[in-house]
This record gives sequence, structure tokens and C-alpha cells, in this order.
Amino acid sequence: MAKAKKIYNQQSLSHYYNASQFRIDTWNKLKSTTRQIANGGTNREKNIEKVRELLAYLAPVEIYWAFPGSQVFQQLVRDEQLEEFDLLANKVSRIASALLSGEYRRKHIILDGAAETEAERDSGIESAPYTSFDRARKRPYFEVLIVDDLTNAQAESQRAALAGMRRDEDRCTYAPIFVPSLDDALIAVSFNHSIQSVVIRFNFDLHSENGLPVLSKYLRDTKLDGIDDVDSSEYGIILADAISRIRPEVDLFLVTDQSVEDVAGRVGKTCRRVFYNSEDFFELHLNIVRGVEDRYKTPFFTALKTYSSKPTGVFHALPISRGKSIIKSHWIQDMGEFYGINIFLAETSSTSGGLDSLLEPSGPIKEAQDLASRAFGSKQTFFATNGTSTCNKIVVQALVRPDDIVLVDRDCHKSHHYGMVLAGANVVYLDSYPLSEYSMYGAVPLKVIKESLLKLRSEGKLDRVKMLLLTNCTFDGVIYNVQRVMEECLAIKPDLVFLWDEAWFGFARFGPTYRQRTAMFSAAHLRERYKSESYREEYTRYQDETADLDPDDHEAWLSRRLYPDPDQVRIRAYATQSTHKTLTSLRQGSMIHVHDQDFKSKVEESFHEAYMTHTSTSPNYQILASLDVGRRQVELEGFELVQKQVEMAMVLRQTVMTHPQLRKFFRILTVGDMVPAEFRESGIQSYYDLEQGWNDIWNAWEIDEFCLDATRITLYVGQTGMDGDTFKNKVLMDKYGIQVNKTSRNSVLFMTNIGTTRSSVAYLIEVLVKIANDLEQEIEDMSPAERRIHELKVKSVVEDLPPLPDFSRFHDAFRPSGELPGDEGDSRTAFFLAYDANNCEYMSLGDRSLDDAMEAGRDVVSASFIIPYPPGFPILVPGQVASMEIIEFLRKLDVKEIHGYRPELGLRVFTEEAIQHQMKR
Ligand SMILES: Cc1ncc(COP(=O)(O)O)c(C=O)c1O
Repeated sequence: MAKAKKIYNQQSLSHYYNASQFRIDTWNKLKSTTRQIANGGTNREKNIEKVRELLAYLAPVEIYWAFPGSQVFQQLVRDEQLEEFDLLANKVSRIASALLSGEYRRKHIILDGAAETEAERDSGIESAPYTSFDRARKRPYFEVLIVDDLTNAQAESQRAALAGMRRDEDRCTYAPIFVPSLDDALIAVSFNHSIQSVVIRFNFDLHSENGLPVLSKYLRDTKLDGIDDVDSSEYGIILADAISRIRPEVDLFLVTDQSVEDVAGRVGKTCRRVFYNSEDFFELHLNIVRGVEDRYKTPFFTALKTYSSKPTGVFHALPISRGKSIIKSHWIQDMGEFYGINIFLAETSSTSGGLDSLLEPSGPIKEAQDLASRAFGSKQTFFATNGTSTCNKIVVQALVRPDDIVLVDRDCHKSHHYGMVLAGANVVYLDSYPLSEYSMYGAVPLKVIKESLLKLRSEGKLDRVKMLLLTNCTFDGVIYNVQRVMEECLAIKPDLVFLWDEAWFGFARFGPTYRQRTAMFSAAHLRERYKSESYREEYTRYQDETADLDPDDHEAWLSRRLYPDPDQVRIRAYATQSTHKTLTSLRQGSMIHVHDQDFKSKVEESFHEAYMTHTSTSPNYQILASLDVGRRQVELEGFELVQKQVEMAMVLRQTVMTHPQLRKFFRILTVGDMVPAEFRESGIQSYYDLEQGWNDIWNAWEIDEFCLDATRITLYVGQTGMDGDTFKNKVLMDKYGIQVNKTSRNSVLFMTNIGTTRSSVAYLIEVLVKIANDLEQEIEDMSPAERRIHELKVKSVVEDLPPLPDFSRFHDAFRPSGELPGDEGDSRTAFFLAYDANNCEYMSLGDRSLDDAMEAGRDVVSASFIIPYPPGFPILVPGQVASMEIIEFLRKLDVKEIHGYRPELGLRVFTEEAIQHQMKR
């Protein structure tokens, strides 16, 4: 390996975000170098040396992949030794193209024989390219990992035995990979996303001989402490458990030489099947195929397809059904041409004939929801066809009764604020930490949440506290430590319900680092934790330590970690996800995931009512089918897609950070910028830095109070002298057709998603470089006066930022009477009071009337929600007293869109008489 240092040294290796990037780059380097040699280029000797080095680097990487496979790889090495460079160049070129396009998953790649044309060589391989329709008809391909210490001959014989089991009726096809150790198995499942099944035998080693840092990096996160002291008979069980933590969707088969009943009892949750010392390849083959078919099946999508192909007469309302109103039309045929007939064949309101009713599902919709529940790790999952806006209202209505207290992050989505009005909740708004420099908010610190709960406890209102509602992750990508928040809140209120708005976090379940910060994973994890003996011991220690603490000494409780009583605690977590925002689904396709121990006994009925309240009686079947297919996708390739998405985002971060021209005008905000140091125990500053390359994020994601979703990229544009909105509309959109959907005063947010490709990232970088070049030219050509103006513009967006106001307070008129006035307020009463125009008046922001009124001691109380875009959450809610900071903030806002505010009239506030009248009630 010594020679290979010339191509990769420690420094350049650490700049690879992951092994997939390294692998593809190395194959491409090998492709161009072998081609150069084959074409008789200069530096032949040096290039031959380079080829040897590249092959040496690829050798340990390729053992984890079935394509091109160890036999082919050995042949490449032999071709190089025999100096068969023409042959080698052709083979490498075909392999590299097939890897890039994924073509090897769809057809057999012929490597021998000369390529006929340059184009053929580059596109990969034989014959004409497939159409997407052809591809869909092919059998899906995957890889099976077999963990066993075998000789090459044994591995080949097993490969042949499994190949011999293939049947025509199998819906999918696979190729096996053999690894000899537990470490190798963990690297393989983390690195090779094509692996869908793992067969764990009983004869394998613990550690890998593979020392390549881009690979051994995968082992750091599995944390198998003390494994060296464990009896080897336990390896299989430990490995199964570790794999299920990395990729819970993968099917695990354990082959044991011990008591199969005993082992099955211990791995029942993680393994699909346990075999006894078995070499029954047919049985194994059937189980492998069945496992993937189980994930592949899409009950509702399939039912809809079947229904669409049946001839039916339409005698109900829905003229578009079967395309009838379109095909015969003289005027709207183009709609039919644009969408194609299938979408209309699938338009139906039928709930029978193989279909189902979303409102009372018992057939394929129910089955599809159950599969989604498995995929997302919930106890129950419900589909919704009108977005997370509706899901949020359903959950709140199902759980909250009038006068219940709900703690809500104030910068949550507006659907929650309206949900609170509908439910008649008493709301306690929680302030997120401000990021004033960037004119945006972060998230609510745990201390603020605990403080609020302790205050409510001291006021004797804990029995009315029902729910904590938080947004995870926030629009800008700040992510809570979900387990920690739930644990400490449950210590104060053991049956608190959590509603985690995961509108932007549907994908998170499918990346191991992300998963631990999702609601469903955390709920399941905490439930197990509180059942354990070790937790009971932890709790007993905590009880001893806190026995003498005064319940009202808030400081003392706030300064320590809190633990719930395992005999009292109830896990009650709900997550709402806009599947359509981050995964494959038609617009408005959303899901509600539930892990509530009391769902069946306390919530099921009210949930049903709430679902009926908000769900259309004509739900869109296309959306439901897309949710079903989206679930299939994440169960089979969610891991791969999320891994690639993160990789793309990291490449973008790295490029902007290292590109000299981009660095002049742009900066991608790091976790250090967006999460204050007090919430970053790990001390992590950035995912990537110029000296060290990629930092290890696992530890930070495990312990920090907040972390940052790497896939959401906030580009700081202050140094361009443009505000975020201008940069978005005038430059990105108008000039380059790049869409982004959020800006702040000096930043724009780029979101990557599971469809983001390397080319789209390259295009964005190209555009940013062009913008930077143009700006530099423009500034160079400026007259001194113009330059001064430019500098003032930069100062304005970088420094002159209105301070972000906190929530002020509800007016006493909208606080519950007859008890200690607290922070909670009743926005519902205020909301409906404003329906009578006589109770309201307008006060202009443009003169001093508001300031004079406030200075004279008047409480100016908002009669509506005032929601500026951005940031997109209410600066004032009905019943809230306007503070001077809020008025100043509104005056300084330079956004054009402020919902609830009419500039020609002013702020809609309650008249003093209306407030006095309300106070008397
Ligand atoms: C945090 C949050 N919750 C809920 C929603 C509403 O989701 P949907 O558009 O699916 O109705 C949004 C929309 O942007 C959001 O940002």
C-alpha cells in the first residue's frame, strides 16, 4: 500500500465524505488512466504504476459488492500483470459506466470482447439503451450478504447453489456477497445499500483485516463496546442486533448451531427467521425472496391498478372517471394528452370492487397503512390526503379539550395556531433561541420547556397540561434531542403527550444518524428503557439525590437532569409528516404516526372523530396510491437515497467552503453558526473543515441538545449586498431558474432531497460561481460613489437587523379567570371576538398613534394573526398584547407579504371598549 500514497494520502482521503464517493472516483481514475495507457499516451510507466495503486485501493473496497465481483476483480489484476492494457481499459470502462448508471442491476454486463465504438464504450456495454418502461418490467435486483468465514472455493460453490434455486416465478433476483467477519458485515451493510438480506452463520471472526480509513469509519458508529470479551457463540446475536440498528428494514436470517428455540426467543424482534445448522438452500432462497416481496408489495396501488383495468359503467358523480368527460370533449382533449389515460382510469370514488374507504379502512388502504406503520416504526399510521396542515389539526383535536393547556413553539407552522383556536386550548407559547445575526429563530431550549412546566406545576395546573408541540426539524434544519426532551418533560408530567411536527423529517427514519432523533424511534427506545432493570437503578439513584429538593425551587430542578418514574410514565408520541415534502408522494400526501400507550384506551374514538372532522369524503386515490408506493421505496431504497442525499449536501458544503471565488461572497452556515455553543456539548463547529476534512458527527448527534440537518443548506449572502428575497427572486429565479423556498434577511435556504443529483449540485455551484464572478466585475467597475452605496447595502443586510421579538403576553381578558394568571392564553375567544367588526379598529404603523397609545398606558391587543413571510409564523396572535419590540420589528421588516396585515389600514386591534367588556365576563 506504500506506493499508493502518491494518489491518496491521509489528507486527500479524509476529504472523501464516504466510501461510495471514494469508490466511484477511484473507478473513474482507473478508467482514464487505463485508457491513456491503451491509447499509447505519454508517461506510460508512471501510469502503469498508478493503475497498480488504484487497483490496490479498490481491492478492499470491492469485497463488499457483488458487482463486478471478486472473480472479475482478480482478472483485472491479472490483466494488469500481463500488461493487457487494451483489454483492461475496455473492461474497466464498462465496469465504471455500469456502476455509475446502475445498469448492472438490470442486465448482465458483458466485459469480454472489444467495444465497437467510442460511444458504446462510454455508455457501457452492448445493445440499445432500455426505455424506462423496459426497466420497470425487469426483475428488481438486490444483494444478499452472507457472513461466514469461507474459502474462495466454498464461496463459489454456495454462490452456484443459490443461483440454482432461482425460479421463474421469483419477483426479484439477487447476488450473494461473502464476508468473513462481524466488522466486515457492519461495513458492508453501511456501505453497500443494495444489500436487502443478511444471512448470519455461526463461524466468523470478529475483526476485519481491512484498514482503509474510509471503510473503518463506518465501524465507529456501531459502538460494540466490550465485544472482544464476549463468547464467540454470541457473535451472531450481537451482529443481528447491530445491523437492525443500522438498517432495520433489512431481512436478517440467523443460522445457528445452538438450541434454535433459545436463539429464536432472543432474536425474535430482529431476525426474520432462525435456521438450525441448515444447508437447505432452497428454503433460504424462498425466505430471501419472500422477505423482499413483502416490502415490495403495495396493496392500495395494486388494487387501484387492478380496478382501473376492469371495464365499469360509471353512474355516479365523477365525470372525469375513466376519462369520459375528457376523451369526448371538443375542447379539453389536451388535458387527456398531457396526463395520459391511466390517471383518469384510476379516478374513482368507489370504495368497493377491491378498493377501500379512507374513512373506514378495512381492505387495501388499511393494509397499506399497516405497512407504512412497520416502515416508519409506529404503532399506528394514518394516511392523509390534504397535507400535514390537516394532520396537525386532527391530532390536536383528538387529544386536546377546551381549556387544556398546550405548550407550543411560537414559530411553529400556522396550522397549529389555527388548531389551537379550533380546539379551544389554552396556549403557552415557548420562545426559540434567536439567531439575530441571520434574522431567524433556532428551536426551543429544553430549559425553557422545563421552566414552563415547573411554573405550571407550582401554579397547580399540571393536571390541565396536555401536550407539548414542537417542530422537528425546523424549517432551517435545527433538530431537537427528542429522547432527552421527552425524558425530562416526562419527569415533570409523566403522561404528557408529544406532538412532533416532522413535516420536513419524513426521510429521517432511513438514515441511522437521523433516525435516533425521530419521534417514533425515540418513543420505542424510551419505552424499552423504562422497562429495564438498569433504568430502575438509575431512577433510584435520582430519587435519592432529589429527595430533599423543594419542588418550587425551579433553579435547582433546572440545573440538573430529570428522570421519569418508571411506574408512572406513559409514552405518548405523535408525529405528523409531509411525505410529499421529503419522500415520494404526490403533493398533499402526508402521514400521522402514533406511538401512544393509551391510544386504544383513551384516544381511538376521539381520534376517529377528529379524522372525520378534517378528512374529505372524496379523498384523492392517486395521492393514497403514491403514499403506498413511497413506502415501498423507502423500505427498499430509503437507506441509499438518504445516504446519497446527505452526500450531495456535503459535497455542496465542501465546495462552497473551499472554492476561492465562492468564499469571497458566500458562506454556508455551519452547525456552529446555527446552534449556540451552550447547546453543543460535543463542541462540533462544522461538519467539514479545511484542515481535518470531515468531522465525526455521530457523537454530536447523540449528545448535543441541538444539531443541524446537513441536507438543508443555508447560504449566507450578506456580502453580496442583496437581501435574501432579492437574491432569491432577481438572481436565482429570474436569471438561472433556480427555485428556493425560504429566505431570511441575509440568507437563502437550499434544500436537497432524495432526487438531488450530482449534476444538479454541479449546476448550482456553476451558477454561484457565475454570480460571484459577475459581482466581482460589477464591484471593480463601480465609481467611488457607487462603491459607497454598495458598502452601505452590505452593512444594511449584515448589521442593521431588527432584533427578533419574543412572545409578549396574552392580555388578561384572554387568560382563564378564577385562578392564578399564568402564561397560558385563550386565543380562541380572541379569535371569535374579532368576528364582530365593532370590536376592532385599525392602528397605523406609519405614524405615532400606536406609540402614543402605548406610552399613554394602553394595552394594544391584536385581533388577528399577523404572519410575515418570511419568517412565516405569527409575530402577533389574537389576544396578544403588542410590545414596542414587536412594533419596531414590523416596521423594520422589508418583506412584501405580511398575512393578516393591511398596510393601507394598519394593525387590526381590539377597541378598548371590547377589551373592557371582555374583562368583565
Ligand atoms: C413545520 C411545518 N408543519 C406543517 C406544514 C404543513 O404541511 P403541508 O404543506 O403538508 O400541509 C409545513 C409546511 O410548510 C411546515 O413547514
